[in-house]
Amino acid sequence: MKSYITTPIYYVNGSPHIGHAYTSIVADILKRNRQALGYDMMLSTGVDEHGQKNQEAAADLGMDITEYLDMRGAEFRKVFDMLDVTYDYFVRTSQDGHKTAVAGMEQTIFDKGLIVKHEYTGQYCKGCEQFKKESDLTEDGQCPLHPTMQIEEIDETNYFLKMEPFRQALQKHIEDNPDFVTPEHFKTELKQMLAEPLEDLCISRPKSRVTLGVDLPFDQSFVTYVWFDALTNYLTNIDWPDGDYQAWWATCEHLIGKDILKPHGVYWPIMLMAADLPLPKKLSVHSHWVGAGGVKMSKSIGNVVDPVEIVDTMGADALRWYLARHMRADTDSQISVEYIRQAYNSELGNKIGNLLSRAAKFARSRFDGHLPDRHDLTSEDEAIRAAVMKATEGFANWLDLADIPHRVQDVITVCDEMNNYFAEQAPWDLIKDPATVERCQTVIYVTLDCLRIVFEALRQVIPASADKALGMLNSPADDIACPWRPELDTLPAGTPLGEIATLYPRVNAPEAA
Ligand code: MSP
Repeated sequence: MKSYITTPIYYVNGSPHIGHAYTSIVADILKRNRQALGYDMMLSTGVDEHGQKNQEAAADLGMDITEYLDMRGAEFRKVFDMLDVTYDYFVRTSQDGHKTAVAGMEQTIFDKGLIVKHEYTGQYCKGCEQFKKESDLTEDGQCPLHPTMQIEEIDETNYFLKMEPFRQALQKHIEDNPDFVTPEHFKTELKQMLAEPLEDLCISRPKSRVTLGVDLPFDQSFVTYVWFDALTNYLTNIDWPDGDYQAWWATCEHLIGKDILKPHGVYWPIMLMAADLPLPKKLSVHSHWVGAGGVKMSKSIGNVVDPVEIVDTMGADALRWYLARHMRADTDSQISVEYIRQAYNSELGNKIGNLLSRAAKFARSRFDGHLPDRHDLTSEDEAIRAAVMKATEGFANWLDLADIPHRVQDVITVCDEMNNYFAEQAPWDLIKDPATVERCQTVIYVTLDCLRIVFEALRQVIPASADKALGMLNSPADDIACPWRPELDTLPAGTPLGEIATLYPRVNAPEAA
């Protein structure tokens, strides 16, 4: 069983930001989930190195383009490594193999007579690297996605891919494959894009304006339009056209932000149809992160959440946790350093880490550092065990992008119940009376065994700290069965516990530090 997940490849005109971190982290969560189910995985992420805006970013810094791209490529890789994103392939579109394949796809489509040359006058947004229709712009003629960038009027002769001949076939594909685009809201948006006749897609840029790109194979005075080049990465990563790409391709799921639905939902499927290639299996679309109060993040407002700063101050799992837990399906979601800090302290710290620390330290001091015996179970024990099994079951099943926040919510809800159970059973009182010591042992056993299951599930979301916790319970991650399912009582009584360290040390607000 195979599954191929892709993230967009990111423009390198700046450092990695929270949007980049988000898609790559959720891709990694889905990969870990499917690995736990026994799938062979391929996860690709990487950088989109061509086009006008990257070219200008290098020029602004006065850097040689190759040095600039090397620097940014290394920076993105480093940030994804810091975030524990276990990508299998890191795309750089400047690689020769990719460039040759892009030119090959263009030549194939050109040979079929589907690419034509003509003059065009249009409004170009450099931020989107796309021509815009008047109806795409605001009343003052600006791009709503890039209000600080000037729209340029461009009058040029270029090469164009004919789109309209494929519109109906694409509409039919969307009808016949109800899961092709999710969630529903974005499927509706895509259908609207396809409701009107499609203009030809400009797939070239004259070298007089843009030099950073793949030469058009049939006219060396042009480079390939950056989106045509970038989208092709999804195939070149798996060795198209010469390798064994088919089995991976048949399972391909693209994770994308809502702003790039058109290139992925219209341009890419039509490019594939034009080249006689099958379409990807699925497009999973997410909304965006905005600052507190719904304000767009910007340096001037000072509400930008820098992923590296979060890792440095709270650790990668603080960021992974927040991103996994708080993205809403159809509307933008709010993020700030303060929100992340609160979620980290109150959920990871107080609800999960603290319970582990209290129960494990109790076992260390009262039961000689060993997991105590489990004796007869009460209905309270049975109830909490059943609740933990149910709450973690979601992670033993296939997760889609939109499922992630719900499954994480299930876990945090059951952690609340576990904390209540622990408080109500009060092992610190039970230990005082020899008649209830056995009962005390059972409570500690049940609590630690339930926490083990919770951490096994959370390995898919916050792998570093979950593995650390399993190490404390002497239940190493390497011993976990695949496919994984929540299972009770796999921690043998008498297991010596490891060193108990604070899993999520409290992080104070800057003013209180
Ligand atoms: N290079 C193109 C993608 C080519 S894929 C063949 C591109 N790059 S990008 O760097 O501008 O954006 C990449 C991704 O980041 C998109 O999915 C976009 O939606 C996402 N995000 C950018 N800002 C975001 C937020 N504030 N929140 C969540 N994701 C956002 O487009």
